Amino acid sequence: MTYTLENCRVGIIGLGYVGMPLALMLSKHVPTIGFDTFERRINELKDGQDSNREIKQDDLQATRCDFTSDPEDLKSCNVYIVTVPTPLDNKNEPDLTAVKSASETVAPYLKKNDIVVYESTVYPGVTEDICGPILEKRSNLVCGRDFFLGYSPERINPGDAEHTVQNITKVVSGQTQEVTDFLAVLYGCINNDNIFKAKNIRTAEASKAIENAQRDINVAFVNEVTMILNKLGLSSYDVLEAAGTKWNFLNFTPGLVGGHCIGVDPYYLAHCAENIGHSPEVILAGRKINDAMGLFVADKIYEATQATDKKPPSPRVLLLGFTFKEGINDIRNTKVVDIYNRLKEKNCLVDVHDPYARPEDVEKEYGISLINSLSKEGEYDCVSLTVGHQAYREMSPEKISSLLNKEGVVYDLKGAWRALSFANGTTYYSL
Ligand SMILES: NC(=O)c1ccc[n+]([C@@H]2O[C@H](COP(=O)([O-])OP(=O)(O)OC[C@H]3O[C@@H](n4cnc5c(N)ncnc54)[C@H](O)[C@@H]3O)[C@@H](O)[C@H]2O)c1
Repeated sequence: MTYTLENCRVGIIGLGYVGMPLALMLSKHVPTIGFDTFERRINELKDGQDSNREIKQDDLQATRCDFTSDPEDLKSCNVYIVTVPTPLDNKNEPDLTAVKSASETVAPYLKKNDIVVYESTVYPGVTEDICGPILEKRSNLVCGRDFFLGYSPERINPGDAEHTVQNITKVVSGQTQEVTDFLAVLYGCINNDNIFKAKNIRTAEASKAIENAQRDINVAFVNEVTMILNKLGLSSYDVLEAAGTKWNFLNFTPGLVGGHCIGVDPYYLAHCAENIGHSPEVILAGRKINDAMGLFVADKIYEATQATDKKPPSPRVLLLGFTFKEGINDIRNTKVVDIYNRLKEKNCLVDVHDPYARPEDVEKEYGISLINSLSKEGEYDCVSLTVGHQAYREMSPEKISSLLNKEGVVYDLKGAWRALSFANGTTYYSL
């Protein structure tokens, strides 16, 4: 079988942060169907709206991609790309429900020589040992003979205009050399052939898992260092700035590690390690430190309010930012909620503001009502910058101080306001 772009028809399963930009780009080169089980998502995309705010309305309206929630529409496809979520269950174990169910969806439509590529982040072995058998069972075809698997990890970084589907190196792998070569051609048409062919599917799966685990551990190191420096009365930002002048010092900053990748994927790797009898020390230590960071920050905020003469018994605290990182509206697994809950436990009265997060999502997911404006002048004992959204980074010291009452404190988790001079009476803290 010779695979070519001319005879290829792609079905993308799961149109979220990963699937949607991919569908948009691929549809410029090959006929593409975007499938999602969430009907509201399909309807908004058909209406030219992307509630993830990743795709411009004009681009959506101009796309040739067909959107559907009817699996029957997938039967004309011969290349399926699965981009569904891979979260954790409540024991921090991989939850492969969506990947398995996407495989069940695709299986009945598989024909001879079709290719099923997984982009969802998994641990080594999931594509071949878990998804392959599901596809075989429901299609009555033999994997590796009648149809073929591929794995191509996704590296996009929502909210990051620099590293996009079009310009990041894409790792591809296939069950046969022919499939790998074709996937290189397919993905190469959207990123100027910036492709790396991994040795095999397991290698590609492992590469993704370790990329994010490495990042998590580097942040955990800086977070632990921050806890130590704080006890020494030193600012981690000042220390990191000095250390960063060394040519090989790695540039990581302290903070919350939330979201659905960095805080999740190391558990996939850990699960895989444990399955084969290795107890992962560093990986889980990193997770433990990063998961505890919200509580550490909340305690620091509370201490800062109690270091004033007035020692408010129920400090009023304003948290600026709720999403799991800056510049996006994604609130999944945000660690700001840990700060919020801990402060509430300490009897604080907490307001949360975020210009990106959808208030209805925050209410539904976490039972927190966001405030919609920063108009409560002189109200707060503490204003804390928790997410570095641009609008917050650009706030003037006058605006920040105006929100505080007498002896108010600023707790700047992001170190974004370090250079500002605050009015007398305002005490500034950062990590
Ligand atoms: N978002 C990122 O920054 C990012 C980056 C790299 C890798 N990843 C990985 O990519 C995968 C997808 O992540 P995402 O952020 O795009 O998720 P997402 O939640 O934004 O989107 C997933 C979409 O899949 C749909 N879906 C769920 N189950 C389905 C099913 N059985 N069939 C069809 N559609 C289904 C959902 O309705 C949703 O629209 C995950 O494995 C994630 O770890 C994400």
